[in-house]
Amino acid sequence: MDALTISGKLGMPEAAALFEPYWERSVLSCPEAEAFHFLRDDELEACARYGCFPEKRLAPLQELAAEIRGNKAWRLWVWHLYRLLFVEQDYPPVKIAQWPYPTAVFGDRAFLVYVLPFLGCVRLIRERHRAIGVPESVTRDTCPNRHLHSNMARFEEAHSGTLGATTKSMYWFRLHVNGRMFRLGRLEYKAHTFPSAVRVFKNKPTGRVLALLSDGCEYNDEGFMEDPEARRPDRRYRRARFVQSETGVEGVPAHPSGRVLARPVMLPLKAWEPVLLPGDPVLDVHIPPGDGLTLPALRASFEQAMAFFARFFPKCRPQAFSSISWMFNPELESMLPAESRLVQFLRQGYLYPRPAKGTEGAEFIFGTDTVNPATAPRDTRLRQALLRKIEAGGSLRNGGFFLLYDHVEDFGHEPYRTQWAPGDDEDVKTRF
Ligand SMILES: CC(C)(COP(=O)(O)OP(=O)(O)OC[C@H]1O[C@@H](n2cnc3c(N)ncnc32)[C@H](O)[C@@H]1OP(=O)(O)O)[C@@H](O)C(=O)NCCC(=O)NCCS
Repeated sequence: MDALTISGKLGMPEAAALFEPYWERSVLSCPEAEAFHFLRDDELEACARYGCFPEKRLAPLQELAAEIRGNKAWRLWVWHLYRLLFVEQDYPPVKIAQWPYPTAVFGDRAFLVYVLPFLGCVRLIRERHRAIGVPESVTRDTCPNRHLHSNMARFEEAHSGTLGATTKSMYWFRLHVNGRMFRLGRLEYKAHTFPSAVRVFKNKPTGRVLALLSDGCEYNDEGFMEDPEARRPDRRYRRARFVQSETGVEGVPAHPSGRVLARPVMLPLKAWEPVLLPGDPVLDVHIPPGDGLTLPALRASFEQAMAFFARFFPKCRPQAFSSISWMFNPELESMLPAESRLVQFLRQGYLYPRPAKGTEGAEFIFGTDTVNPATAPRDTRLRQALLRKIEAGGSLRNGGFFLLYDHVEDFGHEPYRTQWAPGDDEDVKTRF
């Protein structure tokens, strides 16, 4: 049976091109019915008990699994999906996001079908972690714990209570299956290198930290960076220079609140040393959905990550945490109240600008790639504030964040903001 035939049987022949890649390999490797771990009742129950799937939704999922187990063609198809998700890892995420729901065959249960091969990752993660000796508590947290709960809750909300899940972010768990991404407390981490937008220097006598834009970075008159296609004719842009000589470096600084400052600075290397440069090893930080984004929980997570990576990946030697996210949009601070957990978090790191398209975070905040203020939900303060921004001609954006290992002990006390006087970031008007 080929991909076209099976897509036709599923009532969606137009999807054949999506399922064609690696089809032959799936045919050759497809196991007997009893070897399908992610279709077994006991495995699904174990996944639910392990926190990866809402237990109250178990019965319909098991019914669907039984129907697929009993049909050779459907088995081959879900085996292929499982392999496209976690084995053939160069199969593009954008194709996974387009997988249609076979409602002609499975009716409303079709919206649950991709959950089955996705849950196959639980066993893969557990096996991988056991092989490298990762503690069981870390494995449990690293499995797609809150992830599927939140995906399904959003799906239900958007589809008038119908059970289901979207496939958009399922590819993300390839990193967990590969033993590269770990959830340690509130946050997820993977070993990575520092992206290239800024070079970070520390003043040796005072400990003050300053980020300078890399040479050639372009920024606008608000002190932000934009993708070339998001540039606007009514804005002015300037290109940063970074020059290093034997005695010093000269460059354009970013304030820790995330905006580029007006005046270039010269830092004599007698007093200033580089502490974080593009390409340096860092722990890349990801923020999973869910409650508990409190400062004590975040600090505990950073401490746990330092100890975990030193133990299991001693060769990677990171000296900082780094992240790029809509959550580090510097404008959030003026949009949300001071007690907002997002605001409290972003104030603890050093923010710096990143090129933005104008749609960053839309999926995480509004559940769609693009935002239409006429129809978008306004039920939270974040949504309301961002919609007001868009209506006033602004846009969404992201931001970069770093926190040096040395400053984790000051996390909760705004280690970078306290090094600046209030108002130091207000030279925006003189930037051009
Ligand atoms: C991380 C997260 C839990 C923070 O939420 P939080 O703890 O409620 O954050 P805050 O206290 O700052 O929330 C302030 C306001 O913004 C709202 N808000 C926060 N995150 C929101 C989101 N993703 N979508 C819609 N509204 C959100 C809150 O509901 C609150 O509004 P309210 O008082 O009217 O209810 C939440 O944003 C989330 O689950 N995000 C999904 C994961 C994600 O985006 N990861 C980053 C990928 S790059």
